[in-house]
Amino acid sequence: MKIAIIGYGKMGHVIEQIAKERSNEVVLILDALINPQDFTAENLRKADVAIEFTRPDAAYDNIMKCFNAGVPVVSGTTGWLEKLPEAKRMCKEEGKTLFYSSNYAIGVNIFFRVNKFLAKLMNHYTNYDVNMQEIHHIHKLDKPSGTAITIAEGIIENVDRKDSWTLDPKPTDKQIYIDVLREGEVPGTHTVNYTSPIDDITITHVSHNRNGLALGAVLAAEYLVGKPSGFYTMDDLMDF
Ligand SMILES: NC(=O)c1ccc[n+]([C@@H]2O[C@H](COP(=O)([O-])OP(=O)(O)OC[C@H]3O[C@@H](n4cnc5c(N)ncnc54)[C@H](O)[C@@H]3O)[C@@H](O)[C@H]2O)c1
Repeated sequence: MKIAIIGYGKMGHVIEQIAKERSNEVVLILDALINPQDFTAENLRKADVAIEFTRPDAAYDNIMKCFNAGVPVVSGTTGWLEKLPEAKRMCKEEGKTLFYSSNYAIGVNIFFRVNKFLAKLMNHYTNYDVNMQEIHHIHKLDKPSGTAITIAEGIIENVDRKDSWTLDPKPTDKQIYIDVLREGEVPGTHTVNYTSPIDDITITHVSHNRNGLALGAVLAAEYLVGKPSGFYTMDDLMDF
Protein backbone atom coordinates (compact mmCIF):
# COMPACT_ATOMS: atom_id res chain seq x y z
CA MET A 1 0.00 0.00 0.00
CA LYS A 2 1.20 3.51 -0.81
CA ILE A 3 0.88 5.91 2.12
CA ALA A 4 1.12 9.69 2.44
CA ILE A 5 1.98 10.91 5.95
CA ILE A 6 0.61 14.34 6.84
CA GLY A 7 2.32 15.72 9.95
CA TYR A 8 5.88 14.56 10.59
CA GLY A 9 6.00 15.04 14.36
CA LYS A 10 6.12 12.49 17.17
CA MET A 11 3.33 10.33 15.68
CA GLY A 12 4.33 10.86 12.04
CA HIS A 13 7.81 9.47 12.72
CA VAL A 14 6.52 6.29 14.45
CA ILE A 15 3.86 5.82 11.74
CA GLU A 16 6.57 5.98 9.05
CA GLN A 17 8.63 3.32 10.83
CA ILE A 18 5.67 0.95 11.42
CA ALA A 19 4.23 1.46 7.93
CA LYS A 20 7.58 0.42 6.43
CA GLU A 21 7.96 -2.55 8.81
CA ARG A 22 4.58 -3.74 7.50
CA SER A 23 5.86 -3.56 3.89
CA ASN A 24 3.97 -0.42 2.97
CA GLU A 25 5.56 2.25 0.83
CA VAL A 26 5.67 5.80 2.20
CA VAL A 27 5.41 7.84 -1.01
CA LEU A 28 4.96 11.28 0.54
CA ILE A 29 5.67 13.00 3.85
CA LEU A 30 4.08 16.45 4.33
CA ASP A 31 4.70 18.81 7.21
CA ALA A 32 3.82 22.50 7.49
CA LEU A 33 7.25 23.26 8.93
CA ILE A 34 9.24 21.32 6.31
CA ASN A 35 7.55 21.29 2.88
CA PRO A 36 4.16 23.07 2.77
CA GLN A 37 4.68 23.68 -0.98
CA ASP A 38 4.41 19.92 -1.63
CA PHE A 39 0.88 19.72 -0.17
CA THR A 40 -0.85 19.47 -3.58
CA ALA A 41 -3.68 17.27 -4.90
CA GLU A 42 -1.31 15.91 -7.54
CA ASN A 43 1.18 14.75 -4.89
CA LEU A 44 -1.55 13.33 -2.64
CA ARG A 45 -2.90 11.22 -5.51
CA LYS A 46 0.39 9.27 -5.56
CA ALA A 47 -0.86 7.59 -2.36
CA ASP A 48 -3.63 5.01 -1.85
CA VAL A 49 -4.38 6.53 1.53
CA ALA A 50 -3.20 9.44 3.71
CA ILE A 51 -2.55 9.32 7.47
CA GLU A 52 -3.01 12.69 9.19
CA PHE A 53 -1.62 13.50 12.68
CA THR A 54 -1.06 17.27 12.91
CA ARG A 55 -2.68 19.80 15.24
CA PRO A 56 -6.26 20.74 16.23
CA ASP A 57 -6.42 23.89 14.08
CA ALA A 58 -5.04 22.15 10.96
CA ALA A 59 -6.82 18.77 10.88
CA TYR A 60 -10.06 19.79 9.16
CA ASP A 61 -8.32 21.68 6.32
CA ASN A 62 -5.94 18.77 5.81
CA ILE A 63 -8.84 16.32 5.62
CA MET A 64 -10.58 18.61 3.09
CA LYS A 65 -7.42 18.59 0.94
CA CYS A 66 -7.49 14.78 0.94
CA PHE A 67 -11.23 14.77 0.17
CA ASN A 68 -10.68 17.18 -2.74
CA ALA A 69 -7.87 15.01 -4.09
CA GLY A 70 -10.10 11.93 -3.79
CA VAL A 71 -7.72 10.20 -1.37
CA PRO A 72 -9.10 8.28 1.65
CA VAL A 73 -7.73 9.66 4.91
CA VAL A 74 -7.06 8.26 8.37
CA SER A 75 -6.97 11.08 10.91
CA GLY A 76 -5.89 10.87 14.53
CA THR A 77 -5.62 14.56 15.32
CA THR A 78 -7.68 15.46 18.38
CA GLY A 79 -9.27 18.75 19.50
CA TRP A 80 -11.31 19.56 16.33
CA LEU A 81 -14.46 17.49 17.07
CA GLU A 82 -16.87 20.40 16.47
CA LYS A 83 -16.17 19.98 12.73
CA LEU A 84 -16.41 16.17 12.67
CA PRO A 85 -20.19 16.12 11.88
CA GLU A 86 -19.56 18.08 8.65
CA ALA A 87 -16.77 15.69 7.61
CA LYS A 88 -19.09 12.74 8.38
CA ARG A 89 -21.83 14.34 6.27
CA MET A 90 -19.44 14.65 3.33
CA CYS A 91 -18.57 10.96 3.69
CA LYS A 92 -22.24 10.01 3.64
CA GLU A 93 -23.49 12.37 0.95
CA GLU A 94 -20.47 13.18 -1.23
CA GLY A 95 -18.60 9.88 -1.45
CA LYS A 96 -15.61 10.90 0.67
CA THR A 97 -13.72 8.51 2.97
CA LEU A 98 -12.53 9.27 6.50
CA PHE A 99 -11.38 6.92 9.25
CA TYR A 100 -11.35 8.71 12.60
CA SER A 101 -10.52 7.62 16.13
CA SER A 102 -9.55 9.66 19.16
CA ASN A 103 -7.23 6.75 19.97
CA TYR A 104 -5.91 4.09 17.59
CA ALA A 105 -4.37 1.77 20.20
CA ILE A 106 -6.04 -1.65 20.25
CA GLY A 107 -5.69 -1.79 24.07
CA VAL A 108 -7.42 1.57 24.48
CA ASN A 109 -10.28 0.42 22.29
CA ILE A 110 -10.67 -2.66 24.49
CA PHE A 111 -10.62 -0.24 27.44
CA PHE A 112 -13.42 1.80 25.78
CA ARG A 113 -15.55 -1.38 25.70
CA VAL A 114 -14.73 -2.31 29.31
CA ASN A 115 -15.59 1.26 30.34
CA LYS A 116 -19.04 1.03 28.69
CA PHE A 117 -19.69 -2.39 30.22
CA LEU A 118 -18.72 -1.16 33.70
CA ALA A 119 -20.84 1.99 33.21
CA LYS A 120 -23.89 -0.18 32.37
CA LEU A 121 -23.40 -2.12 35.62
CA MET A 122 -22.82 1.02 37.69
CA ASN A 123 -25.98 2.65 36.34
CA HIS A 124 -27.93 0.60 38.92
CA TYR A 125 -25.66 1.45 41.86
CA THR A 126 -26.47 5.05 42.58
CA ASN A 127 -24.38 5.27 45.77
CA TYR A 128 -21.27 5.44 43.54
CA ASP A 129 -20.11 8.72 42.03
CA VAL A 130 -17.71 8.65 39.08
CA ASN A 131 -14.69 10.78 38.19
CA MET A 132 -11.82 10.50 35.71
CA GLN A 133 -8.16 11.40 35.37
CA GLU A 134 -5.97 11.73 32.29
CA ILE A 135 -2.20 12.27 32.24
CA HIS A 136 -0.23 13.28 29.13
CA HIS A 137 3.11 14.85 28.18
CA ILE A 138 3.57 18.59 28.61
CA HIS A 139 3.52 19.27 24.82
CA LYS A 140 -0.12 18.24 24.37
CA LEU A 141 -2.19 21.17 23.02
CA ASP A 142 -5.75 20.08 23.85
CA LYS A 143 -7.37 19.21 27.16
CA PRO A 144 -8.97 16.98 28.12
CA SER A 145 -7.55 14.42 25.68
CA GLY A 146 -9.76 13.14 22.87
CA THR A 147 -9.46 9.73 24.52
CA ALA A 148 -10.78 11.10 27.82
CA ILE A 149 -13.75 12.65 25.99
CA THR A 150 -14.55 9.29 24.35
CA ILE A 151 -14.36 7.57 27.77
CA ALA A 152 -16.61 10.24 29.34
CA GLU A 153 -19.12 9.85 26.48
CA GLY A 154 -19.15 6.08 27.11
CA ILE A 155 -20.11 6.75 30.74
CA ILE A 156 -22.70 9.43 29.88
CA GLU A 157 -24.38 7.04 27.36
CA ASN A 158 -24.82 4.40 30.06
CA VAL A 159 -25.09 6.11 33.46
CA ASP A 160 -28.41 7.94 33.66
CA ARG A 161 -27.32 10.18 36.56
CA LYS A 162 -24.54 11.79 34.43
CA ASP A 163 -25.12 14.08 31.44
CA SER A 164 -21.81 15.89 30.79
CA TRP A 165 -18.13 16.17 31.74
CA THR A 166 -16.28 19.12 33.26
CA LEU A 167 -12.75 20.23 34.11
CA ASP A 168 -14.14 22.16 37.08
CA PRO A 169 -13.02 20.41 40.29
CA LYS A 170 -16.41 21.28 41.79
CA PRO A 171 -18.74 19.36 39.42
CA THR A 172 -22.52 19.32 39.73
CA ASP A 173 -24.19 15.97 40.54
CA LYS A 174 -24.83 15.42 36.81
CA GLN A 175 -21.24 16.13 35.72
CA ILE A 176 -18.19 13.85 35.53
CA TYR A 177 -15.06 15.63 36.76
CA ILE A 178 -11.97 15.02 34.59
CA ASP A 179 -8.71 15.75 36.38
CA VAL A 180 -6.13 16.71 33.70
CA LEU A 181 -2.42 16.39 34.50
CA ARG A 182 0.50 17.27 32.21
CA GLU A 183 3.78 15.58 33.21
CA GLY A 184 7.10 15.10 31.40
CA GLU A 185 6.83 12.80 28.39
CA VAL A 186 3.92 10.59 29.57
CA PRO A 187 2.39 9.03 26.38
CA GLY A 188 -1.12 8.71 27.89
CA THR A 189 -2.74 7.35 31.07
CA HIS A 190 -6.52 7.27 31.60
CA THR A 191 -8.38 6.29 34.78
CA VAL A 192 -12.08 5.92 35.58
CA ASN A 193 -12.92 5.81 39.28
CA TYR A 194 -16.29 4.90 40.80
CA THR A 195 -16.24 5.94 44.42
CA SER A 196 -18.61 5.31 47.32
CA PRO A 197 -18.35 5.66 51.11
CA ILE A 198 -17.68 1.89 51.24
CA ASP A 199 -15.18 1.29 48.42
CA ASP A 200 -13.77 2.43 45.08
CA ILE A 201 -13.75 0.61 41.73
CA THR A 202 -10.99 1.85 39.44
CA ILE A 203 -9.97 0.95 35.88
CA THR A 204 -6.82 2.37 34.28
CA HIS A 205 -5.17 2.19 30.87
CA VAL A 206 -1.47 3.05 30.70
CA SER A 207 0.28 3.54 27.33
CA HIS A 208 3.97 2.66 27.53
CA ASN A 209 4.85 4.33 24.20
CA ARG A 210 3.33 5.52 20.90
CA ASN A 211 3.82 2.23 19.03
CA GLY A 212 0.29 0.94 19.68
CA LEU A 213 -1.22 4.23 18.50
CA ALA A 214 0.85 4.26 15.31
CA LEU A 215 0.22 0.57 14.57
CA GLY A 216 -3.54 1.11 14.90
CA ALA A 217 -3.41 4.04 12.46
CA VAL A 218 -1.48 1.96 9.91
CA LEU A 219 -3.94 -0.95 10.37
CA ALA A 220 -6.78 1.54 9.77
CA ALA A 221 -5.10 2.73 6.55
CA GLU A 222 -4.63 -0.87 5.35
CA TYR A 223 -8.29 -1.56 6.23
CA LEU A 224 -9.53 1.32 4.04
CA VAL A 225 -7.98 0.02 0.83
CA GLY A 226 -10.72 -1.37 -1.40
CA LYS A 227 -13.54 -0.32 0.97
CA PRO A 228 -16.53 1.69 -0.27
CA SER A 229 -16.48 5.40 0.54
CA GLY A 230 -17.81 6.39 3.98
CA PHE A 231 -16.98 7.18 7.58
CA TYR A 232 -15.15 4.46 9.52
CA THR A 233 -14.06 4.02 13.14
CA MET A 234 -12.20 1.45 15.23
CA ASP A 235 -15.53 -0.33 15.78
CA ASP A 236 -15.38 -1.29 12.08
CA LEU A 237 -11.76 -2.43 12.33
CA MET A 238 -11.89 -4.34 15.59
CA ASP A 239 -13.41 -7.78 15.79
CA PHE A 240 -15.59 -7.41 18.91
N1 LIG B 1 -5.84 9.40 17.75
C1 LIG B 1 -4.72 8.95 18.32
O1 LIG B 1 -4.57 7.72 18.54
C2 LIG B 1 -3.63 9.91 18.69
C3 LIG B 1 -2.43 9.46 19.25
C4 LIG B 1 -1.42 10.38 19.51
C5 LIG B 1 -1.61 11.72 19.20
N2 LIG B 1 -2.78 12.12 18.68
C6 LIG B 1 -3.02 13.50 18.25
O2 LIG B 1 -2.34 13.65 17.01
C7 LIG B 1 -1.89 15.00 16.87
C8 LIG B 1 -0.38 15.02 16.58
O3 LIG B 1 0.31 14.47 17.67
P1 LIG B 1 1.91 14.47 17.71
O4 LIG B 1 2.26 13.99 19.06
O5 LIG B 1 2.47 13.78 16.52
O6 LIG B 1 2.21 16.05 17.60
P2 LIG B 1 3.54 16.78 17.13
O7 LIG B 1 3.40 18.19 17.57
O8 LIG B 1 4.74 16.01 17.57
O9 LIG B 1 3.49 16.73 15.53
C9 LIG B 1 2.56 17.45 14.75
C10 LIG B 1 3.24 17.79 13.41
O10 LIG B 1 2.27 18.35 12.54
C11 LIG B 1 2.88 19.39 11.82
N3 LIG B 1 1.85 20.29 11.31
C12 LIG B 1 1.21 21.30 11.97
N4 LIG B 1 0.32 21.88 11.16
C13 LIG B 1 0.37 21.20 9.98
C14 LIG B 1 -0.33 21.33 8.74
N5 LIG B 1 -1.25 22.28 8.56
N6 LIG B 1 -0.02 20.47 7.75
C15 LIG B 1 0.94 19.53 7.91
N7 LIG B 1 1.63 19.37 9.05
C16 LIG B 1 1.35 20.19 10.07
C17 LIG B 1 3.81 20.04 12.82
O11 LIG B 1 4.83 20.80 12.17
C18 LIG B 1 4.36 18.81 13.56
O12 LIG B 1 5.55 18.31 12.94
C19 LIG B 1 -2.32 15.71 18.16
O13 LIG B 1 -3.58 16.31 17.95
C20 LIG B 1 -2.46 14.57 19.16
O14 LIG B 1 -3.37 14.87 20.20
C21 LIG B 1 -3.80 11.24 18.44
